[in-house]
Amino acid sequence: METVLIRNVRAVDSLRDAVCDILIRDGKIAAIGEDIAAETDREIDGTGLTAMPGLFDMHVHFRDPGQTHKEDVNTGTAAALAGGVTGVLCMPNTTPPMDNPEQVREFLARAAKTGVDVHQAGTLTVGLKGETLADYKALKEAGVTALSDDGKPVPTAEMMEKALAKAKEAGLPVVSHCEDLAIIDGGIINKGAVSEALGVKGMDRRSEDSITERDLQAALKTGAQLHICHVSTRGSTDAVRKAKAAGGNVTCETAPHYFLLTDELLRKRDADYRMNPPLRTPDDVEAIKEGILDGTIDCIITDHAPHSAAEKANFETAPNGVVGLETSLAATLTAFYHTGLLTLQDIVRLMSDNPRKILHLPVRTLSPGEPADLLLADLNRKWTVDPDKLHSRSHNTVFKGMTFTGNVRMTLTGGIIRYTAAPEN
Ligand code: DOR
Ligand code: ZN
Ligand code: ZN
Repeated sequence: METVLIRNVRAVDSLRDAVCDILIRDGKIAAIGEDIAAETDREIDGTGLTAMPGLFDMHVHFRDPGQTHKEDVNTGTAAALAGGVTGVLCMPNTTPPMDNPEQVREFLARAAKTGVDVHQAGTLTVGLKGETLADYKALKEAGVTALSDDGKPVPTAEMMEKALAKAKEAGLPVVSHCEDLAIIDGGIINKGAVSEALGVKGMDRRSEDSITERDLQAALKTGAQLHICHVSTRGSTDAVRKAKAAGGNVTCETAPHYFLLTDELLRKRDADYRMNPPLRTPDDVEAIKEGILDGTIDCIITDHAPHSAAEKANFETAPNGVVGLETSLAATLTAFYHTGLLTLQDIVRLMSDNPRKILHLPVRTLSPGEPADLLLADLNRKWTVDPDKLHSRSHNTVFKGMTFTGNVRMTLTGGIIRYTAAPEN
């Protein structure tokens, strides 16, 4: 294995923000400091670049097995590496769903060959049907890191309480997609002025707010660990803030589209702007940003949800979801770092440290002895998102044509260079 020396790079993690050299040997960080002298196979000039621990995206859909025309573990991890993401948690709404140990083992064995730290969530209920709870202990033995019925809510408070109690026994966090299907009633975009203007059925924010409240109450009652998925409204942000103040073992996430975009984009009648929960209003965007700044929102994920162009062709009948792994750091740097709202260390906390903590995985730093899983970014490089250049098998990005400042130039895992940006990108 190559010995690599990265010279003169700005190294940022929870322990440091300083220009230095990083020596990588045998897949690990061997040294970090000024003017390192060592025999190496390769030197990388890090001048003008920033090194950070590889990001961890705790909410992705790799569609493997069963929907591999959209994505699979190889294209999904290629997209991750292009975004500086070296660890992921895959949601279990595959075909068939990840409700059984054999399938989890088979997937994790294939995922282990990708060089990305791929984790899998097991389902909360058998077949994602919301009827009977899955066998959490067996799923844990097979290697799942969390439990979720993402894509669907657990139907009742009673069932959520049982699931939380059983997950607590198994020692697994519950990751909850909060949606009231009775309120949604076939809605396809945020309910409001835009849905009215377009004459399409809206998704009322009360759907998200009420089930978030319900699940947080269940977490407080059971004392179990609960993580709320893709928070998109002021109401659900407030609910998480209160549950934290009340001592709940609760955390939550949001995605870049919820702090950068609003439902005004839906006026284009383009299904690439449709996801669940939907793009909301400027007031929600403000609330999400406040939640990130005051620590209510623990992490930034993508909900990377690939769908084919054919599936996305019809505005009203297309499935919900957008890809995001290749744009999440750039979007976050643009919204929070270049505006002076967050430091790079804050961003490392939101995109690398916190997701790993929530999932009880070791936090990565750039210290000697750590696995050499890191990204090199050019923080000031401007680039425009071109869907055709994505590594994902699907191109349904909500950021198409947008210009971001900050670009991942290289990603290493286990000391191996797994991604190098094309010079023209
Ligand atoms: O937009 C979404 N897409 N939201 C979900 O909850 C599921 C996901 C998917 O699997 O496509
Ligand atoms: Zn979801
Ligand atoms: Zn999802």
